[in-house]
Amino acid sequence: MASGVWWRDAVIYQVYIRSFADGDGDGLGDVAGIRSRLGYLADLGVDALWINPWYPSPMADAGYDVSDYRAVEPRFGTLEDAEALVREAHDVGLRVLLDVVPNHSSDQHPWFVEAVEAGPGSPLRDRYVFRPGGGPDGAEPPNQWRSVFGGPAWERVVEPDGTPGEWYLHLFAPEQPDLNWEHPDVAADFEKTLRFWFDRGVDGFRIDVAHSLVKEEGLPDVADVADLDWPRPPVEVDGRLQRAPWRPHPFWDRDEVHDVYRAWRQVADSYADPKVFVAEAWVDEPERLARYLRPDELHTAFNFTYLQATWDAGYLRRVITETLDEQGAVGAPATWVLSNHDVVRHLSRLARDRQAPGSSLEQLRGTTPDLDLGRRRSRAAVLLTLSLPGGAYVYQGEELGLPEVEDLPDDVLQDPTWERSGHTDRGRDGCRVPLPWSGDRPPYGFGPEGGAAPWLPQPDDWGPLTAEAQRDDPGSMLALYRAALHERRALPALGDGGMAWLDLPDGALGFTRDPGFACLVNVSGDPLPLPAGYAVRLASGPLDDGRLPRDRAVWLTRE
Ligand code: NOJ
Repeated sequence: MASGVWWRDAVIYQVYIRSFADGDGDGLGDVAGIRSRLGYLADLGVDALWINPWYPSPMADAGYDVSDYRAVEPRFGTLEDAEALVREAHDVGLRVLLDVVPNHSSDQHPWFVEAVEAGPGSPLRDRYVFRPGGGPDGAEPPNQWRSVFGGPAWERVVEPDGTPGEWYLHLFAPEQPDLNWEHPDVAADFEKTLRFWFDRGVDGFRIDVAHSLVKEEGLPDVADVADLDWPRPPVEVDGRLQRAPWRPHPFWDRDEVHDVYRAWRQVADSYADPKVFVAEAWVDEPERLARYLRPDELHTAFNFTYLQATWDAGYLRRVITETLDEQGAVGAPATWVLSNHDVVRHLSRLARDRQAPGSSLEQLRGTTPDLDLGRRRSRAAVLLTLSLPGGAYVYQGEELGLPEVEDLPDDVLQDPTWERSGHTDRGRDGCRVPLPWSGDRPPYGFGPEGGAAPWLPQPDDWGPLTAEAQRDDPGSMLALYRAALHERRALPALGDGGMAWLDLPDGALGFTRDPGFACLVNVSGDPLPLPAGYAVRLASGPLDDGRLPRDRAVWLTRE
């Protein structure tokens, strides 16, 4: 790969710890499970792991409600186990990123518990966002802001004297009170947390909702409550759907948030082998996203505009070009991501013909998946993703071709969205189903023999999708990922660097990269002839008489 700085073109594998592998047999994935599968990850050919929150948590939002940032949840293991994992990962050449959650803590965090106990007017409440209620007796929320999981973004506390009292802000679940980033204790404590893990060898952090943290002074209402929606629905321009233009928002993507990251960058740069950050910032405008990536701020950010793109050659080309232009302008590498633990697995998204960009089950409601189509497109999409300039993310299980589990029974759903939406939005559990490793029936080797059932049920027809079933099958999704990742390491054109678009017929995408590489994707066009002078290095599926059929991609190298 072209670059000397590892994070500029790293492929980072997302380990959703509770669903990756269960080492102790309690039905929940854990640190021991990850340690037992490091060989699999090294063999796959990724460069680093990002592990979702493993801190002590009441699990109101699957660990994104943290009650102690500098410890490990006992159900996941111990701090010693975590340190051993970092060492062992390094030994097999894998870097390790953790997940830091700075917008909110758990309501069981000692700061929040003592804030509630201290009563109104106490400075201990200033580390969070407490306000008196509206209406004559304070029984109305302080403003009209809505929680991402549904319902008002405010919860009322019972004061120590037993009376209904102040309200606190929670942009997510009520068990996730927002921290007040104006308070010096908050910034100081997070810097301590960063150093705590960096000092234990952790190589970087993914920053949860990096675009929140700072709220508009006075917490104002907006004129039209629809303006609070985020991400904003696409708008139609000249008959085509496009992303909505950016406008200021009272709690997302405020300019002041960048001061936090300038300070964090200094912490990262103070290490001999500098540490790195990746922003989870659902900021749709490439120019706004690039602001997080200025040279004295964060290193990289997830590209959710790419993740949400429709399977449309023109749209994809626009998103890719804008990303490279805007991020290149601040000197940052692009990243490419197809799935994560918050969105419908891309195999199931690509299994639909949809017009509007999107990624949730809600947005796909009323459409029927064609999983064979989804599989063909997913194979093509990963070749596109892994050959674009910059870094890439792989969400656990996508290398096995797992679909979204769309028919989980109501009574097993755990995502807070399900309750908060009044049982209208089924939420994100369908992409979080525990991985199938081996065998032909649940629990597919997820945990040790005789252990508890996995925390979410696995489908009965996943036998052919296990890692074991795919390992020696050259036509499997796993084989394609392994081949692509190994080629990516071998080919000097891939990773960081530039690219040039090829002029191709409608419905096709193609580009070259120096030296001697080309990627062609037939998104929706007629069978596409391959350019002269190139040989096929890797294909997502069979060619049709030497031409590239629709929903297929190839990597070519110069003969
Ligand atoms: C983004 C995380 O990815 C998601 O899983 C979580 O629910 C929210 N942030 C709140 O922390």
